[in-house]
Amino acid sequence: VDHYGVIGHPVAHSKSPEIHAAFARQTGQRIAYARCPAPLDGFAATVRALREQGYKGLNVTVPFKLEAADLADSLSARARAAGAVNTLLFSDAGIEGENTDGAGLVADIVDNAGLALAGRRILLLGAGGAARGALLPLLHQGPDQIVIANRGAASAHALAAHFGAHAGRAGQVQGCAMDAIDGAFDLVINATSASLAAAVPAVPAGAFKPGALALDMMYGREPTPFMAFAAGHGAIARDGLGMLVGQAAEAFYLWRGVRPDARAVLEQLRAQAA
Ligand code: ATR
Repeated sequence: VDHYGVIGHPVAHSKSPEIHAAFARQTGQRIAYARCPAPLDGFAATVRALREQGYKGLNVTVPFKLEAADLADSLSARARAAGAVNTLLFSDAGIEGENTDGAGLVADIVDNAGLALAGRRILLLGAGGAARGALLPLLHQGPDQIVIANRGAASAHALAAHFGAHAGRAGQVQGCAMDAIDGAFDLVINATSASLAAAVPAVPAGAFKPGALALDMMYGREPTPFMAFAAGHGAIARDGLGMLVGQAAEAFYLWRGVRPDARAVLEQLRAQAA
């Protein structure tokens, strides 16, 4: 049996053990998956200890994704672009850092929500780590435009300038202040941490095209305030549970070389919560 786990602070409520156990059952892979709490000042030491115990890889969650990028011996292109690591792979060559959050998000939008992104207009709310991680995988889908809007406009502009270098054409990625959002979008993604404070980012009601997909990266028992706001303005609201399962599926594939059926596991989790 190969050992994996999720490292974070806290990890008591993580759904990752349940998700990976379901993937393992589905694919017939023999793995063990544990919750691995680490003290705030002991991330690197805990990773090294787990690796010495024979662990083959870890999922990394709050607040260690930046530290994980520093710790890794090598980074994938996605991890480098995101500036953060959510998946570690241990091999004889060392510790590889990958970021599967953006790929999990895109898989949830395209495969589960059924929204093809080529030629679409995307509004990305927030300019922190979560927004940054989403940008390269979103750009690879060939959208017409991605507008990054943030409360602090300077970081939205900075992120847009940075990812403009990865864009297919000039102007494909734009940055603006929340109150300067112009036009309507096919997809609005809440990558701010506003939901943690039960707040809604100050997005104009007209930003949602009729039937637009409004996705909050957060999830909980109840729809987030952003989801309620979006649904009240003609959008189809979606929480971040599918993204969570999607990023886990990408990590599982990286570790095991076998692609699990993320959608089936998402449906199981939703049925349990209902
Ligand atoms: P994460 O890793 O979750 O992205 P982060 O890097 O700290 O966390 O970024 C938090 C993001 O949420 C930022 O874009 C922040 O906006 P500012 O840069 O203007 O601070 C955004 N944010 C947090 N609370 C918010 C709120 N109540 N309304 C709108 N945006 C908010």
